[in-house]
Amino acid sequence: MTVDIESKLKETRVFYPSKEFSSKAHVKSMEEYEELWKRSIENPEEFWSEIASELFWFEEPKEILVWNEPFAEWFKGGITNISYNCLDRHLETARKNKAAIIWEGEPGDQRTFTYQQLHREVCRFANGLKSLGVEKGDRVCLYMPMIPELAIAMLGCARIGAPHSIVFGGFSAEALKDRINDVGAKIVICADQGWRRGKHVPLKANTDEAIKNCPTIEKNIVVKRVGESVDWNDGKDIWWHDLIDGQSGVCEVTPVESNHPLFILYTSGSTGKPKGVQHSTGGYMVGTYHTTKLVFDIKEEDTYWCTADIGWVTGHSYIVYGPLANGATSVMFEGAPNHPHEGRFWELVEKYRINTFYTAPTAIRAFMRWGEQHPKKFDLSSLRLLGTVGEPINPEAWIWYHKNIGRENCPIVDTWWQTETGCIMISPLPGATPTKPGSCTRPLPGVNPEIVNESGEVVPLGSGGRLVIKQPWPAMLQTLYNDDERYKQAYWSQIPHKYYAGDSARTDEDGYFWIMGRLDDVLNVAGHRLGTMEIESAIVAHPKVAEAAVVGMKDDLTGEAVCAFVTLKMGIEPGDEIIKELKAHVDKEIGAIARPKRLIFTEALPKTRSGKIMRRLLKSIANGEVASGDTSTLEDHGVLKNLTDLASGQDQD
Ligand code: PRX
Repeated sequence: MTVDIESKLKETRVFYPSKEFSSKAHVKSMEEYEELWKRSIENPEEFWSEIASELFWFEEPKEILVWNEPFAEWFKGGITNISYNCLDRHLETARKNKAAIIWEGEPGDQRTFTYQQLHREVCRFANGLKSLGVEKGDRVCLYMPMIPELAIAMLGCARIGAPHSIVFGGFSAEALKDRINDVGAKIVICADQGWRRGKHVPLKANTDEAIKNCPTIEKNIVVKRVGESVDWNDGKDIWWHDLIDGQSGVCEVTPVESNHPLFILYTSGSTGKPKGVQHSTGGYMVGTYHTTKLVFDIKEEDTYWCTADIGWVTGHSYIVYGPLANGATSVMFEGAPNHPHEGRFWELVEKYRINTFYTAPTAIRAFMRWGEQHPKKFDLSSLRLLGTVGEPINPEAWIWYHKNIGRENCPIVDTWWQTETGCIMISPLPGATPTKPGSCTRPLPGVNPEIVNESGEVVPLGSGGRLVIKQPWPAMLQTLYNDDERYKQAYWSQIPHKYYAGDSARTDEDGYFWIMGRLDDVLNVAGHRLGTMEIESAIVAHPKVAEAAVVGMKDDLTGEAVCAFVTLKMGIEPGDEIIKELKAHVDKEIGAIARPKRLIFTEALPKTRSGKIMRRLLKSIANGEVASGDTSTLEDHGVLKNLTDLASGQDQD
């Protein structure tokens, strides 16, 4: 048996949920979890049909799963509507006057929608869409800031069976154009402008630019958010407020078959054009409903905040669909964490008495960098549960989060999943699972992952390999939009009969999963394959370091050598001294095999707008190549230029 990817990081700290938390949780102990998991894997159809029955169906599914590998049809023949399940279902209960969405804008304006109010706004908008001739199956593209109209538009599209495709408001006109054309959208919805750290984002101008070359677009619906004047095209543009003016607050939902597509969301692959990940209605609904309930242990009285942007899958599943399907109160925030000050998030927690808080490791590392004095200024005592998603969390960041935000009193759920999986797959259950910093712990009920080598053989315990999922699950992607071949190729061809996630991972003696990073980030140093995440964690654990990204650079002797891009904490000067310290530190933490051959100090790392470090670009820079390929998702192009200059000037060999 070949060891596939070597794992060098060992983290031994364990944190147990408090008795008080466990006693009130939906899943109260590991025994209960184990039993649930076992049952879900042995009898998946029975398990998922029980969960589906907690939701509303106009007609019950005829079959729970029809599996023509790799195409799944979940809840086949079931007739439902997710907008009905997120709204109408609650209107028959005391929830009708409960806050569904509590929203705060970047300038500090606030709006709250009860379920009843949200329902009315969604209906008016859905009627508006119908008046423009939008029909079941028509695609609608949303390019909007984080304002309530974005959630209303999603639920409005879902209500009439029109799949939405959301393009993150930070993308360029070019990126928007490509996505609109790929999905063939009939309608685009934008805002005049958006707010970003006090500045205006020209959403309408970008949309105008994009749709010059989008022949399928018939209308552009524009929300007035900022209020400055914008160019207007009478034939195409229509204000949101004019569209809904006079529309009825009642709009019967369009019942759809469970496998009717709910949305398409584009995500970057390591190569080629973005992939249009297509999700179903019924399966996705059941998956997001169930995981929101279990992972966030959602209760009636919770005030839950997921800080993601709805332009990413996290916002789809865990700001809108999952929480609303559970009748929860979901906080939505338009602004940035450091505007107008670095304590803005904590100010919101204090103000709304938020008790469940879900964010990304990149945000946590920024909080660390800004310092603990910011959260200290606010009352965070309402918090009971914290979560993270998006990339492996370095143990140091986990501990910082635990201490400074959780006050050592909140379980942390490190949730592993992907745009493609639709919902959380591997995560602690907060009342049951002892947590280990850096591990997303155990698979959720209904999820059957394993770690295999290149040939598909299960790797020995503790060694790294490729993360695959062995059984279909309801919220899995249906396909890539209009490209079944690419779907098969990307996810079902590497390892026969298993979903290939593209991540490397290992398990430990407790069956805990440790994600080691994307497979294309794996380095091969002198025949030893090392996950970049582990080296980064080690570097970030050094007290002078704020953030680090590791890539491979070509090396005559060892094949690949480690190149680390490092952002130091404020006030620390780069120089020979710190280079020596960090090399020695990595030697100590992981071993000389992982010692960076080169360290490049930088004020900032190139990131996507969702905060993921773009290692592909760093790799080119480290190898002295021009950083080419798709840079449309890059947040700040200036960072790239600075880094290229730095890299050419700092040779340490
Ligand atoms: O590499 C994994 C990482 O993010 C990838 C999925 O990215 P995306 O489709 O943009 O979805 C992000 C939000 C779900 C995964 O393949 N990732 C996500 N969550 C974690 C993670 N890596 C480690 N730990 C996590 N908790």
